[in-house]
Amino acid sequence: MPRHWWQDAVFYQIYPRSFADSNGDGIGDLDGITAHFDYLRELGIDALWLSPINPSPLRDWGYDVSDYCDAHRDLGTLASFDRMIAEAHRRGIRIIFDLVPNHTSDQHPWFVESRSSRTNPKRDWYIWRGGKNGGPPTNWKSTFGGSAWEFDAATGEYYLHSFLREQPDLNFRNPAVVEAMHDVIRFWLERGADGFRVDVIAQMIKDAEFRDNPEVPAGQRLTQLERLAYEHRYSSDQPEVHDVIRGFRRVLESYRDRMMVGEVWPREQRSLADYLRPDELQQAFNFRFLFSPWSADAFRSRIEEVEAQLGDAWPTYTLSNHDFPRHIMRYGERDADARARMAAILLLTMRGTPFIYYGEEIGMPNVSIPDARKRDPVGRDRCRTPMQWDSSRAGGFTMASEPWLPLGDCAAINVEQQRADPSSMLSLYRRMLHLRKTTRALREGSYRTAANAPADCLVFHRELADERVIVALNFSAEIRRLNLPRASILLSSSHARTESAIEGALDLSPNEGIVLILN
Ligand code: NOJ
Ligand code: CA
Repeated sequence: MPRHWWQDAVFYQIYPRSFADSNGDGIGDLDGITAHFDYLRELGIDALWLSPINPSPLRDWGYDVSDYCDAHRDLGTLASFDRMIAEAHRRGIRIIFDLVPNHTSDQHPWFVESRSSRTNPKRDWYIWRGGKNGGPPTNWKSTFGGSAWEFDAATGEYYLHSFLREQPDLNFRNPAVVEAMHDVIRFWLERGADGFRVDVIAQMIKDAEFRDNPEVPAGQRLTQLERLAYEHRYSSDQPEVHDVIRGFRRVLESYRDRMMVGEVWPREQRSLADYLRPDELQQAFNFRFLFSPWSADAFRSRIEEVEAQLGDAWPTYTLSNHDFPRHIMRYGERDADARARMAAILLLTMRGTPFIYYGEEIGMPNVSIPDARKRDPVGRDRCRTPMQWDSSRAGGFTMASEPWLPLGDCAAINVEQQRADPSSMLSLYRRMLHLRKTTRALREGSYRTAANAPADCLVFHRELADERVIVALNFSAEIRRLNLPRASILLSSSHARTESAIEGALDLSPNEGIVLILN
């Protein structure tokens, strides 16, 4: 099969409000992003994913779109968008954009019309139903809590919102809605977008009969969260959603070299592969690492699951994004830095496209946000704080006296300092990205778990023709001995390691990850 650019690429997710502020209003913007392409190039990034840039009343920070065909004025204009694309492409960087088709903002003109009367031509663009037994039409829950239905007194019906009540769900069973979304896709592709990250794509179609979701028996619930008390049998992952995705793909295929990566939360992990078809998504996020505890077995079984379940489809891997606490804080405080370094090696040696979350490359931690400065209604601010560029008061992020979200400890962690330090996290990411770029086996080679790994170690092979790479990761708190044929060390996550050739055995330090090539 021919290789595609998105298979060889390493992606970098930017949360636009938090990357760089170019005009001193305290909010990151498109010009700020454009000003840092050389940094991203030097780091070794091939492609960017930008979280939503559209106009929005910001109830869900851009995931509530009020105009699909413009940029939010806080972030810039279509002219700054065009400049950004041109500058990126000039440097060989591609950019994909968040497309949020499942729902709009309640301020979107489509919804304003839709809710105005039961006979409005746009009524059926959204999902309106009468109540049942004096309550909402179904027992479906919003991901953000409570019923997924909101009663609209003016017209006496409920509308569906899978997220906030200010985010009504569009009705993709209506061909006019499908057509309108195709126009949106074309609008951005015409302007040079390289593709899209598609928000909650599996949820775009709901059960035609609006049946209640079955309750998960109390003993089998993973958490006490209300929405997880029900299986999403009828509110997500419906067979007809694949028609909608195929329609999006057809539009994409009428342009050259564009791609879609879907945010898919399938009911069963193995059905992720159902979305990865030659006429559907090229990529889907694989969130398994986000929920993996710090253990060799846990990571190994997740990787093997992906290898077994995806078939010919191309995998992706992610450690952090804008919805979950940053991974550097997930693996315990004591060895956080060493573990994050090892995790970087794991992520960047996978067979599949890695997605890095901005700030991860300098080991930016979550930032605790005082109540008065909280912005996100469901508490995700701490992983969305401004990028820490230097040690100045506003961290080189803004000239304003106060950025839109508080900054972390910029004196301790920042790009400028780490750039000059060969033992820094940033230098490790840069070296690892370079190694991936120059080692075909790491990008294209097969994956095979080594059979004889020491306890609490994950050891695997990446092979292409006679290029044979071994990756060894020690998850334990003790030294572990690895028996090896003659090999050269390409890279280690530990700055203490100095030797470069190995003969017979190698002692891995606690939390050390190492990449070797067989001679
Ligand atoms: C998933 C996005 O990643 C999240 O940030 C957003 O709140 C929901 N979808 C709703 O759009
Ligand atoms: Ca700004």
